[in-house]
Amino acid sequence: MIKRIGFIVLVLILIIQVRLEGSSSVFDSKHNLSASGPGEIKSDSETRVCIFCHSSHNASTEGPLWNHQTTAPGKFKTYNRSTMSGRPEQPNGATKLCLSCHDGTIAVGAVLNKSRPISMRNVGASGEIPAGRKSHIGTDLSATHPVSIPYRQSTASSVSHLRWPPSDPENKVGPDPDGFVQCTACHDPHDDSRSDRYPFWKKATFDEVCLTCHVY
Ligand code: HEC
Ligand code: HEC
Ligand code: HEC
Ligand code: HEC
Repeated sequence: MIKRIGFIVLVLILIIQVRLEGSSSVFDSKHNLSASGPGEIKSDSETRVCIFCHSSHNASTEGPLWNHQTTAPGKFKTYNRSTMSGRPEQPNGATKLCLSCHDGTIAVGAVLNKSRPISMRNVGASGEIPAGRKSHIGTDLSATHPVSIPYRQSTASSVSHLRWPPSDPENKVGPDPDGFVQCTACHDPHDDSRSDRYPFWKKATFDEVCLTCHVY
């Protein structure tokens, strides 16, 4: 009897483990924009999950096999305060990729490998993330943590609240390879399972992300 209970417990643990591992994927997140996605904004008919952001052919060089139209630079109002040592640039790197949907000026289904956008549910008149939704960030970034801002030893050393080098034992949070802070400093577009409170969060807690770069 005890052996049997032990066996059942073991099987349950295995099932839970598989589920936990399975959930750390874009498939179970709002970034699954295909017909099987769990969110409100999704396609009626498209079954491919990665296609909204990546394709294997005719992709743009703006990102890894990037397949989504991007907003022309120059449109954005950047974060600007006299206290800062660095100056944000117009969105570049991963930030430009995120804003290609989240600035609300381009259709969510506007992929490069099709001549017409993939049609989507619960989007605005032009297929965009509708204004008024929390996920619609817009083109005014003056109230968003500075992005596309250089974070190098030269800028960090003149700001008392910045740490240098950034310190994350898991090596997930930090500036991108070109030395810029991007949306991906805090968010992981492929994984929404680490935090219940903060969407697509790179760590289990809020502070773990901030304290990689800031000292308090
Ligand atoms: C909603 C948009 C989105 C979807 C959907 C998406 N990705 Fe990505 N992916 C990105 C972005 C943005 C980057 C660039 C991240 C960066 O530069 O830090 C990226 C980067 C990558 C990379 C480069 C390595 C890395 O992790 O940075 C690979 C590989 C990748 N994605 C695979 C996939 C696969 C496979 C799927 C489908 C299961 C998928 N992605 C779905 C947005 C997406
Ligand atoms: C990848 C590194 C990085 C991460 C992660 C990060 N920051 Fe920052 N943060 C910066 C840089 C770089 C600046 C710009 C500092 C400058 O140039 O003066 C900045 C600026 C700021 C500012 C504005 C300072 C001012 O002078 O206006 C605040 C507030 C801030 N960060 C808070 C946070 C919080 C809260 C988190 C976590 C949710 C966080 N940061 C995560 C690097 C980071
Ligand atoms: C192809 C379009 C597309 C791209 C590219 C994209 N997203 Fe999204 N994202 C969406 C949609 C659509 C949703 C669901 C929004 C909703 O339901 O209001 C979403 C949801 C989110 C959410 C959760 C919002 C919520 O209300 O829970 C976050 C955070 C997020 N995205 C961040 C990012 C970041 C960071 C990037 C770049 C690394 C990115 N996204 C790239 C389309 C995109
Ligand atoms: C310094 C960390 C940090 C950076 C950088 C950052 N975000 Fe966020 N983001 C957050 C936090 C924290 C939340 C949750 C806000 C809340 O719960 O009030 C959030 C929420 C969101 C949401 C959900 C809407 C909402 O207000 O809850 C979206 C979409 C999003 N971020 C996209 C982006 C995009 C796109 C970028 C780059 C332009 C970006 N984020 C840069 C920390 C960050």
